[in-house]
Amino acid sequence: MKQAAARAAIALVPEDSVVGVGTGSTANYFIAELGRIRNRLDGAVASSEATAKQLKALGIPVFDLNGVDDLAVYVDGADEVTSHLAMIKGGGGALTREKIVAAVARKFVCIADQSKRVHVLGKFPLPVEVVPMARSYVARELVKLGGTPVWRKDFVTDNGNAILDVHGLTITAPAELEERLNQIVGVVTNGLFARRAADVLLLGTAQGVQTITG
Ligand code: 5RP
Repeated sequence: MKQAAARAAIALVPEDSVVGVGTGSTANYFIAELGRIRNRLDGAVASSEATAKQLKALGIPVFDLNGVDDLAVYVDGADEVTSHLAMIKGGGGALTREKIVAAVARKFVCIADQSKRVHVLGKFPLPVEVVPMARSYVARELVKLGGTPVWRKDFVTDNGNAILDVHGLTITAPAELEERLNQIVGVVTNGLFARRAADVLLLGTAQGVQTITG
């Protein structure tokens, strides 16, 4: 189902464009599909070092985002996605770069299998990237908001930071919580993608790929 969604996303990649590429097992299927059409692409912007490595291995040029002023489309997976196309992302720890690339892209295409579709976000622990020296402070602030933060030990993000995975949240107002979490000093990014939600969800199901727009 992940692969079918990834395959369907290829139709949304314009000819001769630079494509933003996400991170994770679903994005990996998309990278493999991009390899087949690499001659139709100008190149890609990667949301992680791991993705950049895979793209380069397929002979796809990887550009620094600072040199790219127009990104037609960004394709990435999600850990949870609602019918409004708000998401929890960051299970792979790439949330900050993912959010930056998503902000630049004109269209965000989420690719996911049906297990990722939820009514309310929060069963999947919400990743929060924090500056390492602020980890305990941010954790205490997250407890005040009703969450149970767990330090993702032995994990350092591509930006040299730590991740707190916040359990026990029932997120009924994702855009508000996203903004609130960003106000905690020491938080680099949180894994709520609600203020910049996806524009299209390609959901792999047992009956085929459904296209859902917000
Ligand atoms: C990585 C992400 C991924 O998109 C998310 O974790 C989904 O991963 P997968 O496609 O492996 O289920 O946000 O930071």
